[in-house]
Amino acid sequence: MTDPVYVTDALIAEDIDAYLEQHQQKSLLRFITCGSVDDGKSTLIGRLLYDSKMIFEDQLAALEADSKRVGTQGQEIDFALLVDGLAAEREQGITIDVAYRFFTTEKRKFIVADTPGHEQYTRNMVTGASTADLAVILIDARKGVLTQTRRHSFLAHLIGIKHIVLAVNKMDLVGYDKAVFDRITLAYRAFASEIGITNFTAIPISGFKGDNITALSDNTPWFKGPALIEHLENVEIGSAADEGKPFRLPVQWVNRPNLDFRGFSGQLASGKVRPGDAVRILPSGKTTTVDRIVTLDGDLDEAVAGQSVTLTLADEVDCSRGDVIAAADAPPEAADQFEATLVWMADEAMIAGRAYWLKLATQSVSATIQQPKYEINVNTLDHLAAKTLELNGIGVVELSTDKPITFEAYGDNRTLGGFILIDKLTNATVAAGMLHFSLRRAQNVHWQATDIDRDMRAGLKNQRPALLWFTGLSGSGKSTIANLVEKKLHRMNRHSFLLDGDNVRHGLNRDLGFTEADRIENIRRVGEVAKLMSDAGLIVITAFISPFRVEREMVRSMLPEGEFIEVFIDTPLAEAEKRDVKGLYKKARAGQLKNFTGIDSPYEAPENPEIRIDTTAMTPEEAADLIIDRLLG
Ligand code: ADX
Repeated sequence: MTDPVYVTDALIAEDIDAYLEQHQQKSLLRFITCGSVDDGKSTLIGRLLYDSKMIFEDQLAALEADSKRVGTQGQEIDFALLVDGLAAEREQGITIDVAYRFFTTEKRKFIVADTPGHEQYTRNMVTGASTADLAVILIDARKGVLTQTRRHSFLAHLIGIKHIVLAVNKMDLVGYDKAVFDRITLAYRAFASEIGITNFTAIPISGFKGDNITALSDNTPWFKGPALIEHLENVEIGSAADEGKPFRLPVQWVNRPNLDFRGFSGQLASGKVRPGDAVRILPSGKTTTVDRIVTLDGDLDEAVAGQSVTLTLADEVDCSRGDVIAAADAPPEAADQFEATLVWMADEAMIAGRAYWLKLATQSVSATIQQPKYEINVNTLDHLAAKTLELNGIGVVELSTDKPITFEAYGDNRTLGGFILIDKLTNATVAAGMLHFSLRRAQNVHWQATDIDRDMRAGLKNQRPALLWFTGLSGSGKSTIANLVEKKLHRMNRHSFLLDGDNVRHGLNRDLGFTEADRIENIRRVGEVAKLMSDAGLIVITAFISPFRVEREMVRSMLPEGEFIEVFIDTPLAEAEKRDVKGLYKKARAGQLKNFTGIDSPYEAPENPEIRIDTTAMTPEEAADLIIDRLLG
């Protein structure tokens, strides 16, 4: 046990560089404290900071940047995306209650994430735990192992924290009784092994009195140590298992200050690299060798996991942001379908079938999630059937991405296995996830190349394929105008096909209703069918309310550039309701029809449709002529 370091505020204020210089050689341990105020968490954190020096949060940023540059052995910036994403949200006024505190002793620097202990704050705990190497699980000696102890342990383990400290607090209130401590440790061991925690360190403490915090206490002569800070100072960061892991560097950006220099910058997710090493660029699979390892402090002979560096390569190979540079003989897998655990962190529940942005290391793709296989009750560890995940819900899901991603199982590599999901419209981070494995079906189903392609099919018909995607309220006039458009095209010898909402719902989509999830699936299927038909060389016309922007954009992205033409049939709700051709608005107003668009289900009007038809200002005939003009003109 070494004495805490005393630094004057003046040194930090006057010369933070000198201060950092003095301390940058020390390793950094990030840890999280789990427990509630009642367990004495604030007291404990206060106690830890008491004899050491706390740095204010803006200085912490400088320190973090510095430690990234210098690089420490551990994985302190793992999952940094999550923290970045949530920090951005904080700027937008969404609160995450995680406070980061910094303190230091002569041996080591520490960042402790303090998260609230309330039941509903899974999200906060996941945020705090995502960058931590160690978790201190606090127990009130008078109460023993509680539901929340189980929940915190489960989450810490789920997030991949390797070191668990069981801090049995308030020992002073149980007369420093060894029997109490032993009983709690035994009970915890039984539970821990159930969830896969094989190893933990139990320490009897009193945050209030200071027993076994910085030094062993005379009040517990039966306890042989270590004291809490001593343990925090000596625990090995980055387990031995990480030692032999193959080299991986997710490319963050390409560094090209002039024509003579092209470097690939990023942080090593695992392994080590030296000049001359053979590497493979994923996903292209191209191989080359490392030429130099460049840093601000000069070239290196070797870089290790956690370090941020710029690599130059021996050959002019294609490599850009999102690619992964890996050991040539041990590259990671790429896949586009996975099983994963998701922790849902948004107030709006997960929507199966909807596309979200998925960010994993430096890769960003579009992903859709299927209905959960099961949800996990964190208190009982039971697996429950679930249609969705609500705020703080944890479940196992299958997901698919629109492009293959280079990944590893989260258990093997937190950086290449951890991801976040982002809502495409609001840009909010809605979930954190951990990849388990890729699904075999993705590996065994291959795209079959065929000889006759879409251009040849369209060529035979003397036309260019297109998709006229009508959107608008029920009763806005979509079907009427779409029907006229098709009649006119037919007269002009154009090959077309009209897919109409009410009709498709009689066949292909007769299993779907009008919930948000069903409407999304409705549009997904129609999009796929429309794409096949356009591949057949047809001019496809669709008439669906298609109320959600995200799904319309999803269909747009499925087609070649310029082929998706969004036609907004812009009829105000009052007007559509006045016409009420099918009498459905009347029913909806009377409460006999639930989830009716415009009444109790939303409609998101297009922001930049290719064509906008104001049906209050022109007849259906005029509208159809205008659309054909724009299509063929
Ligand atoms: S979408 O929202 O999934 O795109 P779609 O265009 O297929 O809807 O179907 C809309 C048609 O279904 C409406 O024109 C109307 O005739 C009928 N319908 C029945 N119930 C509803 C409802 N709750 N909301 C909207 N349309 C409904």
